[in-house]
Amino acid sequence: MSVNYDELAESYRRYRTPDARIASSIWAHLESAERVLNVGAGTGAYEPDNCEVVAVEPSEQMTVFRRTSKSKLVRASAENLPFDDGAFDASMALLTIHHWSDIRRGLKEMLRVTTGKIVVFTWVGYGNDFWLEDYLAALRGFDLKLFPDLREMEEMLGAITVEPVEIPHDCTDGFMCAYWRRPRAYLDAAARKAISTFSRVGAIEEGLRNLEDDLDSGEWDRKYGHLLAKASMDLGYRLVVRDGAIVRPGAAASDNPPDRVR
Ligand SMILES: C[S@@+](CC[C@H](N)C(=O)[O-])C[C@H]1O[C@@H](n2cnc3c(N)ncnc32)[C@H](O)[C@@H]1O
Repeated sequence: MSVNYDELAESYRRYRTPDARIASSIWAHLESAERVLNVGAGTGAYEPDNCEVVAVEPSEQMTVFRRTSKSKLVRASAENLPFDDGAFDASMALLTIHHWSDIRRGLKEMLRVTTGKIVVFTWVGYGNDFWLEDYLAALRGFDLKLFPDLREMEEMLGAITVEPVEIPHDCTDGFMCAYWRRPRAYLDAAARKAISTFSRVGAIEEGLRNLEDDLDSGEWDRKYGHLLAKASMDLGYRLVVRDGAIVRPGAAASDNPPDRVR
């Protein structure tokens, strides 16, 4: 079942505020780039503002709720990018590939249009520490079916580096694991609406009632209170980076900085 992002767009704008710490990790890879492509851009979270950005997004409503008007917006999909070969110094695809109808084709398109780095913010599984699965059994393994594993990512992108992205306890970007230390947030229907998994995972009402009961009775604290001492957690989020040397069209090879920091 695909997600209708036109229906989720307003909640995305409200609850998916880019997190400054995650932004720094992403932007560290884009420092040399002057022309950046953002595929599956949504409302434009994490788009750098010190270079030219082209945002590709298929959902009209997501574009209506964009955070920035600086980027050039193109209504298109990852699988058919309407750009010339090597048109971008770098590209990024953030928490989006699991929605694409053909991930292999979309990444191949990104490789075609990008000469430098390709940065993919993705997810490889919660590990054993995401307590919400204890309440919502339907979550178990659900998203794992949608995201490629790292071996598949390497097969599709070529040589990659992989950076774990720890999720801060006060993460401002309300994706699935953002509220790992703020359990009551999962009881908020509006917050859940900004997490696409909840729109397709099936029945969750009983699990949410159990969570509320446990929070009210103190049982949640007895079971998971040890997590409250942690500042951040690794819950499976990863930056997958395909390295590449920027080659600007029309420039002599010597004019093309391999890794110029601005
Ligand atoms: C979870 S949102 C992420 C948005 C943004 N990258 C962010 O990090 O906030 C996923 C986005 O992928 C878009 N999307 C879905 N299918 C796509 C496709 N085939 N090609 C490009 N984007 C797609 C959706 O419309 C949605 O805006």
